[in-house]
Amino acid sequence: MLFQNWTARLMTASFFLFASIASAQTKQPPRELDVPYLPTTEPAVQSMLKLAAVKSTDIVYDLGCGDGRIVIAAAKDFGAHGVGIDLNPERIQEAKANAKKADVEDKVRFEEGDLFTADIHEATVVTLFLLTSVNQRLRPKLLADLKPGTRVVSNTFDMGDWKPEKEATVEGTNDGAYFSRKLYLWTVPQRNGR
Ligand SMILES: C[S@@+](CC[C@H](N)C(=O)[O-])C[C@H]1O[C@@H](n2cnc3c(N)ncnc32)[C@H](O)[C@@H]1O
Repeated sequence: MLFQNWTARLMTASFFLFASIASAQTKQPPRELDVPYLPTTEPAVQSMLKLAAVKSTDIVYDLGCGDGRIVIAAAKDFGAHGVGIDLNPERIQEAKANAKKADVEDKVRFEEGDLFTADIHEATVVTLFLLTSVNQRLRPKLLADLKPGTRVVSNTFDMGDWKPEKEATVEGTNDGAYFSRKLYLWTVPQRNGR
């Protein structure tokens, strides 16, 4: 009986020790996310990259990159370079592991950071799957930091009164469930003096 008691106590103590080590190792985002994680479906990834006419000379930035699938597809299927930025360290870890699996580590990088303050000036294509309100908050940064001619593609959410120059619809099934998504394309316009 005494032996059983001590075994149970030891097992409980070990459980809490391992649980606290595991939670200390899972880094949390530094602040609340602006958008929860929901990955773009694979057919929509391909359609977004085609809508932006991605080519091997492009540098594709995915702002809020999740598991890195858009940037990884840009490298693997279109030969582009890519950068993914996400506030959630767990997503960045996944994205790095996925880039390794896809054998595109030499073409992509993933950075933990806030899309509102990230350095995005080298992008030639920017992909977004955020929210219309977040796109609208991001719009002044896109127009100020990106070179004229940079293409911006958004899954599902538009930019309010910045009207897209092209729209597309992608539909199909994902894990057996039907989906239909609107995609939008803008090009950063010329600025006076640039
Ligand atoms: C809807 S998911 C899109 C993921 C990926 N772009 C895709 O299309 O598969 C939005 C992502 O934005 C990230 N996120 C939310 N707020 C952010 C912020 N302020 N800065 C960077 N990433 C953010 C979330 O962690 C999440 O991974």
